[in-house]
Amino acid sequence: MEEKQSIKQQLTNMLAERSEEEIIETAQKGATLMSYYKCAMLEIETKFKVLNEQFSLGREQNPIESIKVRLKSMQSIREKLSRRGLPFTVESIEKNLNDVAGVRVICGFHDDIYLLAECLLRQDDIKLIEMKDYIKNPKENGYRSMHIIVEIPIFLYNEKRFMRVEIQLRTIAMETWANLEHRLRYKKALNEKQLEKTADLLNECAQLSETLDHKMQLVRDIIEAEDDSDVM
Ligand code: GTP
Ligand code: MG
Repeated sequence: MEEKQSIKQQLTNMLAERSEEEIIETAQKGATLMSYYKCAMLEIETKFKVLNEQFSLGREQNPIESIKVRLKSMQSIREKLSRRGLPFTVESIEKNLNDVAGVRVICGFHDDIYLLAECLLRQDDIKLIEMKDYIKNPKENGYRSMHIIVEIPIFLYNEKRFMRVEIQLRTIAMETWANLEHRLRYKKALNEKQLEKTADLLNECAQLSETLDHKMQLVRDIIEAEDDSDVM
Protein backbone atom coordinates (compact mmCIF):
# COMPACT_ATOMS: atom_id res chain seq x y z
CA MET A 1 0.00 0.00 0.00
CA GLU A 2 1.22 3.50 -0.76
CA GLU A 3 2.56 5.20 2.35
CA LYS A 4 0.61 8.23 3.53
CA GLN A 5 2.46 11.47 2.72
CA SER A 6 3.51 13.69 5.60
CA ILE A 7 1.78 17.05 5.84
CA LYS A 8 5.09 18.73 4.97
CA GLN A 9 5.36 16.60 1.83
CA GLN A 10 1.76 17.31 0.83
CA LEU A 11 2.29 21.05 1.21
CA THR A 12 5.58 20.97 -0.68
CA ASN A 13 3.93 19.13 -3.58
CA MET A 14 0.95 21.44 -3.55
CA LEU A 15 3.12 24.58 -3.63
CA ALA A 16 5.42 23.20 -6.32
CA GLU A 17 2.47 22.82 -8.68
CA ARG A 18 1.34 26.42 -8.34
CA SER A 19 2.48 29.78 -9.56
CA GLU A 20 3.35 32.53 -7.09
CA GLU A 21 0.15 34.41 -8.04
CA GLU A 22 -1.94 31.32 -7.36
CA ILE A 23 -0.31 30.84 -3.96
CA ILE A 24 -1.00 34.45 -2.97
CA GLU A 25 -4.60 34.20 -4.21
CA THR A 26 -5.20 30.98 -2.26
CA ALA A 27 -3.74 32.50 0.92
CA GLN A 28 -6.03 35.50 0.53
CA LYS A 29 -9.07 33.30 -0.06
CA GLY A 30 -8.15 31.32 3.06
CA ALA A 31 -7.82 34.45 5.19
CA THR A 32 -11.16 35.76 3.87
CA LEU A 33 -12.92 32.49 4.67
CA MET A 34 -11.51 32.55 8.21
CA SER A 35 -12.77 36.10 8.68
CA TYR A 36 -16.26 34.95 7.61
CA TYR A 37 -16.14 32.18 10.21
CA LYS A 38 -15.07 34.73 12.79
CA CYS A 39 -18.08 36.93 11.93
CA ALA A 40 -20.45 33.96 12.23
CA MET A 41 -18.89 32.99 15.57
CA LEU A 42 -19.35 36.54 16.88
CA GLU A 43 -22.98 36.56 15.71
CA ILE A 44 -23.72 33.39 17.66
CA GLU A 45 -21.86 34.68 20.71
CA THR A 46 -23.95 37.85 20.62
CA LYS A 47 -27.17 35.87 20.32
CA PHE A 48 -26.30 34.00 23.52
CA LYS A 49 -25.31 37.21 25.28
CA VAL A 50 -28.67 38.73 24.35
CA LEU A 51 -30.54 35.66 25.63
CA ASN A 52 -28.49 35.77 28.83
CA GLU A 53 -29.36 39.42 29.34
CA GLN A 54 -33.06 38.75 28.82
CA PHE A 55 -33.26 35.73 31.09
CA SER A 56 -31.31 37.55 33.80
CA LEU A 57 -34.08 40.07 34.22
CA GLY A 58 -36.00 39.29 37.36
CA ARG A 59 -33.86 36.28 38.19
CA GLU A 60 -31.10 36.05 40.71
CA GLN A 61 -28.86 34.00 38.48
CA ASN A 62 -27.83 34.31 34.83
CA PRO A 63 -28.39 31.16 32.80
CA ILE A 64 -24.91 31.49 31.28
CA GLU A 65 -21.78 31.31 33.43
CA SER A 66 -19.38 31.96 30.56
CA ILE A 67 -18.97 31.78 26.80
CA LYS A 68 -15.80 30.65 25.03
CA VAL A 69 -15.21 31.14 21.33
CA ARG A 70 -12.48 29.70 19.15
CA LEU A 71 -11.50 29.50 15.51
CA LYS A 72 -9.85 26.26 14.48
CA SER A 73 -6.18 26.81 13.66
CA MET A 74 -4.99 26.20 10.09
CA GLN A 75 -2.85 23.37 11.41
CA SER A 76 -5.83 21.58 13.00
CA ILE A 77 -7.89 22.17 9.85
CA ARG A 78 -5.13 20.67 7.73
CA GLU A 79 -4.71 17.68 10.04
CA LYS A 80 -8.44 16.95 10.20
CA LEU A 81 -8.84 17.06 6.40
CA SER A 82 -5.74 14.93 5.96
CA ARG A 83 -7.03 12.35 8.51
CA ARG A 84 -10.20 12.03 6.46
CA GLY A 85 -8.31 11.87 3.17
CA LEU A 86 -9.85 15.14 1.97
CA PRO A 87 -8.09 17.91 0.02
CA PHE A 88 -6.73 20.92 1.88
CA THR A 89 -8.40 23.65 -0.16
CA VAL A 90 -10.64 26.60 0.67
CA GLU A 91 -13.62 24.87 -0.99
CA SER A 92 -12.99 21.63 0.89
CA ILE A 93 -12.79 23.41 4.28
CA GLU A 94 -16.19 25.01 3.77
CA LYS A 95 -17.80 21.89 2.36
CA ASN A 96 -16.43 19.30 4.79
CA LEU A 97 -15.84 20.95 8.16
CA ASN A 98 -18.56 22.04 10.57
CA ASP A 99 -16.35 23.09 13.44
CA VAL A 100 -14.04 25.79 12.08
CA ALA A 101 -16.00 28.30 14.17
CA GLY A 102 -16.79 27.09 17.68
CA VAL A 103 -18.85 28.60 20.49
CA ARG A 104 -19.00 26.95 23.90
CA VAL A 105 -21.65 28.02 26.38
CA ILE A 106 -21.17 27.04 30.01
CA CYS A 107 -24.26 27.00 32.22
CA GLY A 108 -24.89 26.39 35.88
CA PHE A 109 -27.81 24.01 35.32
CA HIS A 110 -29.20 21.39 32.94
CA ASP A 111 -32.47 23.20 32.31
CA ASP A 112 -30.68 26.32 31.13
CA ILE A 113 -28.90 24.33 28.43
CA TYR A 114 -32.20 23.14 26.97
CA LEU A 115 -33.80 26.56 27.39
CA LEU A 116 -30.96 28.33 25.56
CA ALA A 117 -30.79 25.71 22.79
CA GLU A 118 -34.53 25.96 22.21
CA CYS A 119 -34.49 29.77 22.15
CA LEU A 120 -31.58 29.88 19.72
CA LEU A 121 -33.10 27.35 17.34
CA ARG A 122 -36.41 29.24 17.34
CA GLN A 123 -34.73 32.32 15.85
CA ASP A 124 -35.69 32.63 12.20
CA ASP A 125 -32.21 33.29 10.83
CA ILE A 126 -30.80 30.10 12.35
CA LYS A 127 -30.84 26.86 10.40
CA LEU A 128 -30.28 23.64 12.32
CA ILE A 129 -27.86 21.29 10.57
CA GLU A 130 -27.29 18.71 13.30
CA MET A 131 -27.97 18.22 16.98
CA LYS A 132 -26.34 15.63 19.25
CA ASP A 133 -27.54 15.34 22.80
CA TYR A 134 -24.70 13.73 24.72
CA ILE A 135 -26.42 14.77 27.95
CA LYS A 136 -29.37 12.42 27.51
CA ASN A 137 -27.09 9.93 25.71
CA PRO A 138 -23.57 10.28 27.14
CA LYS A 139 -20.61 8.83 25.24
CA GLU A 140 -19.20 5.56 26.49
CA ASN A 141 -16.30 7.31 28.24
CA GLY A 142 -18.80 9.46 30.18
CA TYR A 143 -18.56 12.60 28.00
CA ARG A 144 -21.65 14.80 28.29
CA SER A 145 -22.54 17.97 26.34
CA MET A 146 -25.13 19.27 23.92
CA HIS A 147 -23.71 19.71 20.41
CA ILE A 148 -25.49 21.79 17.81
CA ILE A 149 -24.30 22.63 14.31
CA VAL A 150 -26.10 25.61 12.83
CA GLU A 151 -25.91 27.75 9.75
CA ILE A 152 -26.19 31.48 10.22
CA PRO A 153 -26.16 34.31 7.68
CA ILE A 154 -23.51 36.98 7.86
CA PHE A 155 -24.15 40.23 6.06
CA LEU A 156 -21.19 41.44 4.03
CA TYR A 157 -21.15 44.76 2.19
CA ASN A 158 -22.34 43.18 -1.04
CA GLU A 159 -23.76 39.79 -0.14
CA LYS A 160 -25.35 37.54 2.44
CA ARG A 161 -23.39 34.39 3.19
CA PHE A 162 -24.35 31.34 5.22
CA MET A 163 -21.68 29.98 7.56
CA ARG A 164 -21.61 26.96 9.84
CA VAL A 165 -20.85 27.16 13.55
CA GLU A 166 -20.44 24.37 16.09
CA ILE A 167 -22.06 25.14 19.42
CA GLN A 168 -21.36 23.14 22.57
CA LEU A 169 -23.53 23.70 25.63
CA ARG A 170 -22.49 22.18 28.95
CA THR A 171 -22.60 22.66 32.70
CA ILE A 172 -19.57 23.67 34.76
CA ALA A 173 -19.19 20.07 35.90
CA MET A 174 -19.28 18.76 32.32
CA GLU A 175 -16.72 21.37 31.27
CA THR A 176 -14.31 20.46 34.06
CA TRP A 177 -14.63 16.78 33.22
CA ALA A 178 -14.17 17.29 29.46
CA ASN A 179 -11.08 19.45 29.96
CA LEU A 180 -9.52 16.84 32.20
CA GLU A 181 -10.30 14.01 29.79
CA HIS A 182 -8.94 16.06 26.89
CA ARG A 183 -5.65 16.70 28.72
CA LEU A 184 -5.31 13.03 29.51
CA ARG A 185 -5.72 12.09 25.85
CA TYR A 186 -2.50 13.91 25.02
CA LYS A 187 -0.48 12.41 27.86
CA LYS A 188 1.49 9.86 25.90
CA ALA A 189 3.93 9.17 28.73
CA LEU A 190 1.45 7.35 30.99
CA ASN A 191 1.97 3.61 31.40
CA GLU A 192 -0.77 1.02 30.97
CA LYS A 193 -1.52 0.83 34.67
CA GLN A 194 -1.83 4.61 34.98
CA LEU A 195 -4.06 4.74 31.90
CA GLU A 196 -6.38 2.10 33.32
CA LYS A 197 -6.52 3.87 36.68
CA THR A 198 -7.27 7.29 35.17
CA ALA A 199 -9.93 5.80 32.85
CA ASP A 200 -11.66 4.22 35.86
CA LEU A 201 -11.41 7.42 37.89
CA LEU A 202 -12.72 9.53 35.00
CA ASN A 203 -15.63 7.17 34.58
CA GLU A 204 -16.44 7.51 38.26
CA CYS A 205 -16.11 11.33 38.00
CA ALA A 206 -18.51 11.33 35.05
CA GLN A 207 -21.13 9.53 37.12
CA LEU A 208 -20.57 11.79 40.14
CA SER A 209 -20.78 14.92 37.99
CA GLU A 210 -24.06 13.70 36.48
CA THR A 211 -25.44 13.17 39.98
CA LEU A 212 -24.13 16.57 41.06
CA ASP A 213 -25.79 18.36 38.12
CA HIS A 214 -29.03 16.49 38.72
CA LYS A 215 -29.19 17.29 42.44
CA MET A 216 -28.25 20.93 41.96
CA GLN A 217 -31.06 21.20 39.43
CA LEU A 218 -33.48 19.73 42.01
CA VAL A 219 -32.41 22.30 44.60
CA ARG A 220 -32.83 25.13 42.12
CA ASP A 221 -36.28 23.87 41.14
CA ILE A 222 -37.35 24.04 44.78
CA ILE A 223 -35.91 27.55 45.20
CA GLU A 224 -37.61 28.80 42.03
CA ALA A 225 -40.96 27.25 42.93
CA GLU A 226 -40.67 29.01 46.29
CA ASP A 227 -39.77 32.33 44.58
CA ASP A 228 -42.85 31.99 42.34
CA SER A 229 -45.16 31.38 45.29
CA ASP A 230 -43.71 34.51 47.01
CA VAL A 231 -44.80 36.58 44.01
CA MET A 232 -48.35 35.20 43.99
P1 GTP B 1 -15.18 15.56 15.26
O1 GTP B 1 -15.46 17.04 15.29
O2 GTP B 1 -14.20 15.21 14.23
O3 GTP B 1 -14.78 15.03 16.62
O4 GTP B 1 -16.50 14.88 14.73
P2 GTP B 1 -17.80 14.29 15.39
O5 GTP B 1 -18.89 14.47 14.42
O6 GTP B 1 -17.56 12.91 15.90
O7 GTP B 1 -18.07 15.27 16.56
P3 GTP B 1 -18.71 15.20 18.00
O8 GTP B 1 -19.94 16.04 17.92
O9 GTP B 1 -18.84 13.84 18.59
O10 GTP B 1 -17.57 15.98 18.81
C1 GTP B 1 -17.18 17.26 18.45
C2 GTP B 1 -16.35 17.91 19.52
O11 GTP B 1 -16.87 17.64 20.82
C3 GTP B 1 -14.91 17.45 19.60
O12 GTP B 1 -14.12 18.14 18.70
C4 GTP B 1 -14.58 17.81 21.06
O13 GTP B 1 -14.37 19.20 21.22
C5 GTP B 1 -15.86 17.46 21.77
N1 GTP B 1 -15.87 16.05 22.21
C6 GTP B 1 -16.53 15.02 21.66
N2 GTP B 1 -16.32 13.88 22.32
C7 GTP B 1 -15.48 14.18 23.34
C8 GTP B 1 -14.88 13.40 24.39
O14 GTP B 1 -15.06 12.19 24.52
N3 GTP B 1 -14.07 14.08 25.26
C9 GTP B 1 -13.83 15.41 25.16
N4 GTP B 1 -13.02 15.97 26.06
N5 GTP B 1 -14.38 16.17 24.18
C10 GTP B 1 -15.19 15.56 23.28
MG1 MG C 1 -14.78 18.75 16.17
